[in-house]
Amino acid sequence: MAEPKENLQMEKVVSLCKRRGFIFQSSEIYGGINGFWDYGPLGAELKRNVKELWWQAMTRQRDDVAGLEATIIMSPKIWKASGHVDTFADLMRECPLTKKRVRADQVEPQSGKALYFLGAIGDSNFGIPATDNQFTDFGQKAIEEYVLKDKPSSLEQISISKLTAYVEELIKPSNTNDTPEQLANKAQIIATGTINRLCKQPITVLAPNGKPQESAVKKAVEFYSEILKVKNPIPLFWQIKQAENSVDFHPESGVLLNEARPFNLMLQTYVGPIQSEENIAYLRPETAQAIFAQFKNVLETSRQKVPFGIAQVGKAFRNEVTPRNFTFRSREFEQMELEFFIKPDEVIEAIHGNIAAPTPNSQLLSPEPNWGWQAWHKYWVEERVRFYEGIGLSRETLGFHHQTPAELAHYARACTDILFKFPFSKKDENGNVAGDELEGIAARSDFDLSQHARFSGKPMGVFDDELRVAWAKLPVAKQKDLLMRYQENRLNYHVKTGVPFDQAAKQATDDANGLAKGQYIPHVIEPSAGVDRLILALIANAYTEVTKTDDKGKSETTVVMKFHPRVAPVKVGVMPLLKNKPELVNKALAVRDLLRPWMNVFYDDGGSIGRRYARQDEAGTPFCVTIDFDTLGEKPELLDTVTIRYRDDGKQERLKISELLPFLLSKIR
Ligand code: GAP
Repeated sequence: MAEPKENLQMEKVVSLCKRRGFIFQSSEIYGGINGFWDYGPLGAELKRNVKELWWQAMTRQRDDVAGLEATIIMSPKIWKASGHVDTFADLMRECPLTKKRVRADQVEPQSGKALYFLGAIGDSNFGIPATDNQFTDFGQKAIEEYVLKDKPSSLEQISISKLTAYVEELIKPSNTNDTPEQLANKAQIIATGTINRLCKQPITVLAPNGKPQESAVKKAVEFYSEILKVKNPIPLFWQIKQAENSVDFHPESGVLLNEARPFNLMLQTYVGPIQSEENIAYLRPETAQAIFAQFKNVLETSRQKVPFGIAQVGKAFRNEVTPRNFTFRSREFEQMELEFFIKPDEVIEAIHGNIAAPTPNSQLLSPEPNWGWQAWHKYWVEERVRFYEGIGLSRETLGFHHQTPAELAHYARACTDILFKFPFSKKDENGNVAGDELEGIAARSDFDLSQHARFSGKPMGVFDDELRVAWAKLPVAKQKDLLMRYQENRLNYHVKTGVPFDQAAKQATDDANGLAKGQYIPHVIEPSAGVDRLILALIANAYTEVTKTDDKGKSETTVVMKFHPRVAPVKVGVMPLLKNKPELVNKALAVRDLLRPWMNVFYDDGGSIGRRYARQDEAGTPFCVTIDFDTLGEKPELLDTVTIRYRDDGKQERLKISELLPFLLSKIR
């Protein structure tokens, strides 16, 4: 997979976002803060529209979903139960020189010459301080004669084998009149003296193809002096090896990365005045867990019955190690999550006798009572794609990634990621773009509710009278078969979460016996989308350059943001033809006030009408309404009509003011 070298399209999108007030860098006047972004006037409107449309589609337009708005900080026990405290970590590798971390699976391959250094000799002693004068003299001499006489620009001069040869030469009997005892003593002193100035920490640095090897020596010197505080270090070069497409070197420093270590992504704080271990709390890394924790309360107060869902939109925080691609991977972001609770397949089978088996071509448009988890999962993937299509992301701009068994969490049965082809998305060797994750739709079994039941000690199961009645009518063989399957699944859950086998077997039997009484723990399908990623996808998708050439052959390229009217930040621009004609202005203000309660209107009376249209095109406003002299009745038959201009093709037509509101509403809803 190759990343486009220079991503011009992305640069243009980022620049437009700042220029037009969609997205700004957070704390920009202080140099910014990595991984945090602010939404400007147009961005804030766009974001509101997207969240509102999601909320409409996922809750208000449905009978089977209720909403929730929970706190960002919750009991830390929630994150213990969910597994985030123990396992919500990325495997990271750190550069020993710059301390910068990269995700172990995201290191770019590099080729070049890898220079290995075994350590460094410095001006002052390490370890045991030298007390003996002679000792110091000899050590000093060895260093001076061997290394300090030349600048260590040539690797040859600082090779450790040369140093060894030098020491050996110095203590050869033929080169001295020393007695054997004196000689042995001297050899010891030289070796120890050198060792006392020797920092034994190795480092390997890559001189990438096209860069001189000295660049690597410089990094090694920096490492020994800055990090290990060796005074005037002379790195001891050992060997050089060719590296081909190696993913072991930091992309910026070229230094060999440390071993991968897990790094927890939750941001933590303290609740209360005492900053102690027991007061640690976390900023939620996902909105989902509050839904599980409040499952029983919502169930009891909303008059919902399984299958039903709980939806939530809100902030989430992750201390991402490498925030990147503009807002795509941020440290503070928003999620739109639905936890849709369904009956386990065994329950469906007990009640309905069979489970609907979706084929790849099944059109799952409206839920059926005999849907098992596979049908529900497929339905939600399709439903979410329909949502994206409805706000302007065509199927061609999307992609899918079906997680492999190796990628799936141990409790998940399936997970389909909906991808969007971002300008930064990588191309494969055939030039095809798969895209990057916009939303994940996971079938998470009964793991989450089971975990909260175990950690809180509160039951999370439901009672289903339909199941109890149906169960009693089942043939014994069928009951046995269903019990065995349910029991096996529950046993898997208990064992995988660390319960000793005997205990797990007993709990699984108890769980299965609950079925006969109409009790079970619901399973869940989770469509989980990122607001910020969707905003970025919408902006990238809308960005269009239009080049026009005038009669004199002069070309001008302008940007038109072709947002779907449903998400467009401003729905309509209202403009009097001239701003110095009070009759036109008053009429235009009246039109603005007519539309304002229903949509976001931008009133603009500055500059030529062409300039005003261009400004609205760049903001992505789908319609502009102009009030001219015909509106005032210059041509009597056109009295109280306006010109409506369409952003995408620049076409204009006249419409009665009385028709304007219903027309616009039909387009933006
Ligand atoms: N509850 C499941 C969950 O949180 P996830 O795949 O980690 O799953 C869901 O996150 C969605 O949240 C992603 O598909 C993405 O759109 C968004 N998201 C996750 N991490 C993000 C980040 N660092 N910056 C922006 N959006 C992020």
